[in-house]
Amino acid sequence: MLKIKNASKIYKLGDVEVPALNNVTLTIKEGEMLCIMGRSGSGKSTLLRILGLIDSPTKGKIYLSGKDVGKLKEKVRSRIRLETMGYVFQEYALLSELTALENVYLPAKMLGRWPKEYKDRAITLLDAVGLLNRMKHLPRQLSGGQQQRVAIARAMVNKPEIIFADEPTANLDSKAGKNVMETLYWLNKNYKTTIVFVSHDESDKKYASRVVRLLDGRIVKRKPI
Ligand SMILES: Nc1ncnc2c1ncn2[C@@H]1O[C@H](COP(=O)(O)OP(=O)(O)OP(=O)(O)O)[C@@H](O)[C@H]1O
Ligand SMILES: [Mg+2]
Repeated sequence: MLKIKNASKIYKLGDVEVPALNNVTLTIKEGEMLCIMGRSGSGKSTLLRILGLIDSPTKGKIYLSGKDVGKLKEKVRSRIRLETMGYVFQEYALLSELTALENVYLPAKMLGRWPKEYKDRAITLLDAVGLLNRMKHLPRQLSGGQQQRVAIARAMVNKPEIIFADEPTANLDSKAGKNVMETLYWLNKNYKTTIVFVSHDESDKKYASRVVRLLDGRIVKRKPI
């Protein structure tokens, strides 16, 4: 469903070139739960942002359902992102002035969907992540784990084909982290939503149907020592 071919990313900082991704070819299959692992600086976030159409590779191609989406205008890309992709980041990225419910339905509101429809769906999703009784809370009135589950519900609101999560448990204690991973796992099983997540934690492998490891911007076969 989503494929990158010979993708490289070089960040330019003045005269200095920082290679972050080196000739990566990867196909994301429908319904899978893929884990991207690798040490700090190996290119995991860069790869996730390229797959999620948030960033573009310096070289290489990206295909969504067979269509080359690499060269599309930003306006078209942002529409594809809103309609088919959901994102969960390490730092939750909720809007502080909005309640949990308003945060969840914001991406649907941005697409111009019907309020009645998206409000109902947002409530169903908040229920699914166990936060029905926190609907009216502002982000600062929620624990880190609860905020991350609001972010997961928000990622689901437009019925995405694929969710990207970049170290979604990095800021959480182990219990809240487990809860967040189990929520993602449940979405993958229950809604068949394809999930690509980044993790540092070897024990998160159990949630994945496949693991891809990065080392210095390249995919490697085995866990590096
Ligand atoms: N905006 C940027 N400008 C310049 N260099 C960058 C930028 N973003 C990342 N890099 C560099 O690219 C490389 C890959 O970074 P990336 O953030 O993808 O790593 P990561 O595997 O996600 O690391 P971490 O586990 O610490 O989050 C690193 O060497 C990093 O310093
Ligand atoms: Mg990262």
